[in-house]
Amino acid sequence: MPIERNELRRVMGHYATGVTVITTLSKEGKLHGLTANAVSSLSLDPPLLLICVDKKAESYACFEESGVFTVNILADDQEDISRRFAVSGGEKFEGVAYRRGANGAPILHGVLAHLECKVHAAFDGGDHTIYIGLIEEAETREAKPLLFFRGGYRAIGD
Ligand SMILES: Cc1cc2nc3c(=O)[nH]c(=O)nc-3n(C[C@H](O)[C@H](O)[C@H](O)COP(=O)(O)O)c2cc1C
Repeated sequence: MPIERNELRRVMGHYATGVTVITTLSKEGKLHGLTANAVSSLSLDPPLLLICVDKKAESYACFEESGVFTVNILADDQEDISRRFAVSGGEKFEGVAYRRGANGAPILHGVLAHLECKVHAAFDGGDHTIYIGLIEEAETREAKPLLFFRGGYRAIGD
């Protein structure tokens, strides 16, 4: 029998991850972003990563429409940003410092790293779609990561 969804969430919550905000654009050019930890490196040659996006997310259509996204890896002082982008819809970028990257998607101010991507492929993943991004630009900054473990935000050493 398949595992029940809350139990699956609880068990997978034992896999400690970083926290990202994935930014993208609608076809009208409106900025979108969502908090995500279903993110993985994939290939060095060509340089690929993958993200998993809920088909019910407000920003879902943007990945197909714009063909671009940027993975913003959050720093340990950006829990408020993570919480803001984990709420569906609304004007999430109001009062948030960012600049536009070469692909047009926002790069949030103060992130630990960012990776600008072009959508390379998409695969069905149940109630999510797996997007593979071709990494075109990437940069890091000296800071500590925000972590997510057992349903809560953590910092290294907690
Ligand atoms: C720590 C954390 C990790 C999350 N990871 C993902 C993820 O990998 N993929 C996803 O689609 N949603 C993920 N979510 C949920 C989205 O952030 C949430 O559904 C958000 O409201 C979607 O925004 P939108 O509907 O405006 O697009 C995560 C939320 C949190 C708090």
